[in-house]
Amino acid sequence: MEYDFDTVINRRKYGDIKWNVGEDELPMWVADMDFRSAPEILKALDERLKHGVFGYTSVTDEWYSAYADRWRERYGFIMDKSRLAFCSGVVLSITAAIGALTGKGDGVVLMTPVYNAFFNCIKRNGCRLVENPLRYENGAYSVDFEDLEKKLSDPAVKVLILCNPHNPVGKIWDKETLKKIGSLCKSHGVTVISDEIHCDITRPGMKYTPFCSVSEECAGNCIMCIAPTKTFNLAGLHTAAVYVPDKSLFDKVREKMSENGCDEVNAFAEPAAVAAYKYCGEWADRMCEYVFENRRIAEEAVNAAGAKAIKGDATYLLWIDTGVRGADVSKIIREKTGLYMNSGLSYGAPGDGFVRMNLACPRSVLYDGLDRFARAVKAL
Ligand SMILES: Cc1ncc(COP(=O)(O)O)c(C=O)c1O
Repeated sequence: MEYDFDTVINRRKYGDIKWNVGEDELPMWVADMDFRSAPEILKALDERLKHGVFGYTSVTDEWYSAYADRWRERYGFIMDKSRLAFCSGVVLSITAAIGALTGKGDGVVLMTPVYNAFFNCIKRNGCRLVENPLRYENGAYSVDFEDLEKKLSDPAVKVLILCNPHNPVGKIWDKETLKKIGSLCKSHGVTVISDEIHCDITRPGMKYTPFCSVSEECAGNCIMCIAPTKTFNLAGLHTAAVYVPDKSLFDKVREKMSENGCDEVNAFAEPAAVAAYKYCGEWADRMCEYVFENRRIAEEAVNAAGAKAIKGDATYLLWIDTGVRGADVSKIIREKTGLYMNSGLSYGAPGDGFVRMNLACPRSVLYDGLDRFARAVKAL
């Protein structure tokens, strides 16, 4: 089936955060897509709307099966449905998980540069940020295991948040890397929270590895956070899940989620997730083809403009090294051209001189953004 990713849809009408910018500005920041969601999801939501009764609701058996079937069919990973729980957002589930596993002042490890909301999850729980900066060599990122082991060996460090695949650097972690992280964390008594929200958005032909699937050791020491929201553009519906194979860990996290109120289901969260995972595999594949072609075009244009596009196999987010250190480059670019990208600095100190460009947009919008980028970079 043919799907339309080319039509430009006006998103200024309903308070969309990404598009809350000036008339002449072009937003390529917040990680959602400018595409309409899959037709099967719109149909399911329409049916739910027509039912007309929106009382308190919970998830059904179909919801559990939709997740389990999706991970079995797409990733060969078998879930125990009794360890799966609804959550109204991945960030909320991470906040709850940290709360369940730490006391005030405990350390939480982040591999920076990394998704900015993680910093707040740590702060909100009164915990201490422990950075394990990724190695950046010859335009590529890898885990600094020597430093990681040092950080994990502090007895006050209780949690590591893994971004799998990694936002913003666009990296799919290979099985060996995940296994090593898992075994180091286990041996130092550090629990892994694996944020896998970007897992479906990968280069066609490539797949991510669920952290829990790597080994028994990983499965027994992990809280996996997943959602259909990035893949199917549903962030405003607040629908996500946690999967925790270990029973006592699962109970602790669920209790904290309930305490925080983030286990409450809204009437549209369930049908959207079920339709996405049951019927929209082909839409997701076509979307990945489209955004990875956008990535190819953007990498070429960014490099030609004199900046460095970091090669990535996951996410629709392009991580760009402008080479200019010690200034908020995204702010300068926005002022000069109206192109609004995320500042690299919001992902931690190693993001100095970088910007993050969201490529999940129609191609005509992409070309506009790349033109503005080229103009701005020449004048930096
Ligand atoms: C790695 C990562 N985790 C979580 C989120 C947000 O998830 P949610 O909206 O479910 O809180 C994002 C959004 O950009 C993200 O990039």
